[in-house]
Amino acid sequence: MYDGLVRRSGVRPGDRVLDVGSGTGYLSGRAALAVGPSGRVEGVDPSPTVVAYANEQAPANTTFRVAGAERLPFEDASFDLALSCLAVHHIPADDRVQAFAELFRVLKPGGRLLIADFRPPTGRLSRLAIAAFSGHGAEDVRLTDLALGAGFYIVETGRRPPLLCFVRATRPSG
Ligand SMILES: C[S@@+](CC[C@H](N)C(=O)[O-])C[C@H]1O[C@@H](n2cnc3c(N)ncnc32)[C@H](O)[C@@H]1O
Repeated sequence: MYDGLVRRSGVRPGDRVLDVGSGTGYLSGRAALAVGPSGRVEGVDPSPTVVAYANEQAPANTTFRVAGAERLPFEDASFDLALSCLAVHHIPADDRVQAFAELFRVLKPGGRLLIADFRPPTGRLSRLAIAAFSGHGAEDVRLTDLALGAGFYIVETGRRPPLLCFVRATRPSG
């Protein structure tokens, strides 16, 4: 699934990639393979424990830092691609608009975004499945609205069965 998301993101060799809510660094590791030795991956996560673990396992072209999505410790327009999987629903609801504004800020004009999270539950069964899988309540995170609100151009939305949805977008270059 993670390789599928990385492929879908349009990652290219040499890209500088941001992974938001990087956790133990699995998605970053798959992106690190795709960008190759000329590329770089930066992961951020507010949990010092997972960041320490991720840095111990990190490939040479990857670094993890302690930070939340709502305040990214990077210069404007410094990434070609931003990725995130299963992290937006962890960002406090009141901070999500700011988090997407930060993603927009740190991406270069023309930069790419791929965000995946649990899909909005459609009924009792999917609500129960998401709650069982995640260990907490299911929630509708409205990725597309958040990306549009931040100024992104939506390229594609879709599902990754059984429980994920994703939005792929770009920061307009004009
Ligand atoms: C379910 S884990 C997903 C980790 C990783 N993306 C993966 O797919 O394996 C969710 C992560 O979101 C992180 N998180 C919580 N609040 C966050 C925030 N405000 N900004 C960014 N990440 C956050 C958590 O610390 C946790 O590591």
